[in-house]
Amino acid sequence: MINIALPKGRLGEKVYALFEQAGYPCPAIKEESRKLIFENEAAGVRYFWAKPTDVPVYVERGAADIGIAGKDILLEYAPDVYELGDLGMGKCRMCVAGPATFRDSRDATLRVATKFPNIAKQYYASVSRQIDIIKLNGSIELAPIVGLSDVIVDIVETGSTLRENDLAVLETIVPISARLIANKAGYKFKYEAIRTMREKLFALCEGGSI
Ligand code: PRP
Repeated sequence: MINIALPKGRLGEKVYALFEQAGYPCPAIKEESRKLIFENEAAGVRYFWAKPTDVPVYVERGAADIGIAGKDILLEYAPDVYELGDLGMGKCRMCVAGPATFRDSRDATLRVATKFPNIAKQYYASVSRQIDIIKLNGSIELAPIVGLSDVIVDIVETGSTLRENDLAVLETIVPISARLIANKAGYKFKYEAIRTMREKLFALCEGGSI
C-alpha cells in the first residue's frame, strides 16, 4: 500500500485526477464528504487530504510515502524529502510586489509582508538588502495598501489579485509548480511500487519533468 498525501483544494483535485488516469483510482474520494482518508486496496493506494502546507510534514515523517507539494512550500520549509519530479501543474511565480510606482531608495530598512519569511529572507540576503519581515497568514496584498509594509513577497498566478488592488509585480524571485515528493525511507522500502507509479504519472503529465 502506498500512502499518498494530496493537497486539499483545486490542485489536489487535479492531481487526484492524474492518479486516477494513471491507474490508481479511488472513486469515493470524489463524493462530497468531510472524510479525509480514502483507500483502494486493490489498486494499492491510500489517499489523505492534507492542508497544502502540511503535505511535506506528513511525507517527511513517513505518515505518507509520497505527496504533492508546491515548490513554494518546499523552498519555505526545506523538508528532508526526495523531490521526484515537477508535475508542471499549479504553475505560478514567487514575486516581490507593491505599488507600481514604488522605488526602493535603500535608505531605510525595507518592510516586507509575507507568508514566506524564509524565501523573502533568502532573496533579500542575495541582493544584500536589509529588511524587516512582517509575517502574515493571508490577504498579503492588503499590507502595502494600508501602510503595514512597503512591499510583499507572495505567489502570483493570474495577477488579478494584484491588479484589483492597484499593485504590480516588481521582481520575480522564482517560478513555482507542483512537485512529487517522497519520504526517504519509504522510497527505499517501496522503491518498485513508487517508481512504477512515478513513471505512469509522468507519462501522462504534459509539461512535467522528472
Ligand atoms: C494566493 C496568493 C495571492 C493570490 C494570487 O492567495 O497569496 O493572494 O493567490 O493569485 P492571482 O495572481 O491569480 O490573483 P490565496 O488565494 O491562496 O489566499 P490567501 O490570500 O489567503 O493567501
